[in-house]
Amino acid sequence: MPHDPIPTGKSDPPSSLVFRQVSKVYDDSLGGNRFALRDVSFDVPTGSRVAIVGRSGSGKSTLLHLAAGIDVPTGGEVLIGGHNLGTLSERSRTLLRREQIGLIFQFFHLLPHLSVQDNVALPELIAGQEMSEITRRVSQLLERVGLQDRSQDNIQKLSGGEMQRVAICRALIRKPPLLLADEPTGNLDDANSRLVMEMMLKMAAEQESTLIYVTHSGELADLADQVWSLHSGILET
Ligand SMILES: Nc1ncnc2c1ncn2[C@@H]1O[C@H](COP(=O)(O)OP(=O)(O)OP(=O)(O)O)[C@@H](O)[C@H]1O
Ligand SMILES: [Mg+2]
Repeated sequence: MPHDPIPTGKSDPPSSLVFRQVSKVYDDSLGGNRFALRDVSFDVPTGSRVAIVGRSGSGKSTLLHLAAGIDVPTGGEVLIGGHNLGTLSERSRTLLRREQIGLIFQFFHLLPHLSVQDNVALPELIAGQEMSEITRRVSQLLERVGLQDRSQDNIQKLSGGEMQRVAICRALIRKPPLLLADEPTGNLDDANSRLVMEMMLKMAAEQESTLIYVTHSGELADLADQVWSLHSGILET
């Protein structure tokens, strides 16, 4: 005879990210459909680190955009920290993204007219965090990536590898439970790629952030706990 589960008084935290039969279809210029993702389902446990590999056009960026709530699926459901994105307004999705997700891009997306320090501080400034706390946190992060002596420099004075280290600090400053990185080392040489990737993995682990990153490098993918591959919009986990 089946027993009811024994109540433990605590419930497991919701998974960082869940996809349930997610599809994304674009109209092509000939009036047909182009499937960027087909029936993709997965559940990323909190704190895990996943690398996504796949050919150009296989749907990697589409998957990350849907995971970030930047774009919406044409079918299926996306849940972030237990919240179903499909039931939220665009405004609520934006707020959820600011609180729950750190984003890192291939071309950094830093603000060229700001200093290193202000680029890192930006998410905290938007959130209205207290200035003394922001300053403390920015210097802690910059020290962690070895850029403490560059904090006052204009961002444009930095090398590509240095810029990506700044972008990682910016993505992590609000301690987001979920970190998404689209080819974060795609614009860096081999030595810098390894350094930046190892830094990103280590800092995500220290903050207990779940990390999902896209890479073209098998060697860098192998640094993750799991490697998933996409083939023409179909995911193999
Ligand atoms: N806005 C759009 N309109 C139409 N088709 C699109 C759009 N965005 C992406 N696609 C198509 O969806 C497919 C997946 O694109 P996606 O950018 O996700 O690929 P990717 O795996 O990130 O490729 P890459 O490695 O080159 O960055 C491609 O065929 C692409 O042309
Ligand atoms: Mg891409």
